[in-house]
Amino acid sequence: MKHLIDKLEQTGALSREEWTALIRGRTPELAEYLFERARTVRHKYYGHDVYIRGLIEFTNYCKNDCYYCGIRKSNRSARRYRLDNEAVLDCCHKGYGLGFRTFVLQGGEDGRYTDEIMADIVQSIRQHFPDCAITLSLGERSRESYQLLFDAGADRYLLRHETFDAAHYRRLHPQSLSAAHRQQCLWDLKEIGYQTGTGFMVGSPFQTPENLASDMLFIKELDPQMVGIGPFIPHHETPFAEYAAGTLELTLFMLGLLRLMLPKVLLPATTALGTIAPDGREKGILAGANVVMPNLSPVEVRGDYLLYDNKICTGDEAAECRKCLERRMESIGYQIAVSRGDSLNTAALSRSLSAAVAPE
Ligand code: 5AD
Ligand code: FES
Repeated sequence: MKHLIDKLEQTGALSREEWTALIRGRTPELAEYLFERARTVRHKYYGHDVYIRGLIEFTNYCKNDCYYCGIRKSNRSARRYRLDNEAVLDCCHKGYGLGFRTFVLQGGEDGRYTDEIMADIVQSIRQHFPDCAITLSLGERSRESYQLLFDAGADRYLLRHETFDAAHYRRLHPQSLSAAHRQQCLWDLKEIGYQTGTGFMVGSPFQTPENLASDMLFIKELDPQMVGIGPFIPHHETPFAEYAAGTLELTLFMLGLLRLMLPKVLLPATTALGTIAPDGREKGILAGANVVMPNLSPVEVRGDYLLYDNKICTGDEAAECRKCLERRMESIGYQIAVSRGDSLNTAALSRSLSAAVAPE
């Protein structure tokens, strides 16, 4: 199997059959070899820097009903909240002081945040923090809406494709959502010029190595700037409450493969990874990840943005997480960078980064 890892490193691509065989046939020894190669590639492009993104979870209202997600609309026990423009700016101010130069606005698909209101929020962050990147993670919207928010000053957009395979997608989502539409959104985002992030859950119910092979082929074709992956973790108030969580082992293996397939990609060691294992994020960095996304949401609402059970850091102030992550990264020989941390994969972008960094 080693030869497949070598081929992946040399060519950045594998066939569907090769992906499936590699994922299905993985062993602990093979994983060690993969991580060593992934780290070498990561150090070549990003050194030992770890980029931080300040996550602001500004609404947990959602019109969708994804079977895996704790803030799905059918979950009557979720305590719902919304942050207004001022509260969001407040999070940014705190974050800026802590060295954050990227703010990620993430929320459920909440109709209250119209294009007008969202553009307002984006514009005010843009005005107050001209040297920061603005990332949006608002789910599916129209192409016009994506364009408007880009014009308002957003730089990046995160929208996981969740699973490429249409039949598998169908088993994770209600009829109103489709794999094809999700993918169309991603192509739109890229075409508009966003630095685009996609991703998937590892070990989601019914997922097979073939599904993961399809995910890798799709990601290769999309050529995104970011890929967010993390283990599926059951939430007790969802239809998937009784399903097993994804494993640390498979998540790390997929991180290593992603680093070799897209050497310059921005790859977070996610909160979900830190939730299934106390040193999950450190292990993620050592498997090839180069981003962490601590929470900047106000502590009062932290505990209400629960996509899955046992989420870490829900009681900690942003400053504590910042310090904690600094220590964690230093313990494995890495350091947190105070910078926007843009992707080096700019070939795939239509709005050049120099224009984004120094607006006229
Ligand atoms: N476990 C792990 N990840 C989840 N997400 C949603 N619900 C869960 C869960 N139960 C992920 C989805 C979504 C992202 C914001 O969080 O992939 O895109
Ligand atoms: Fe939040 Fe460690 S990162 S407390």
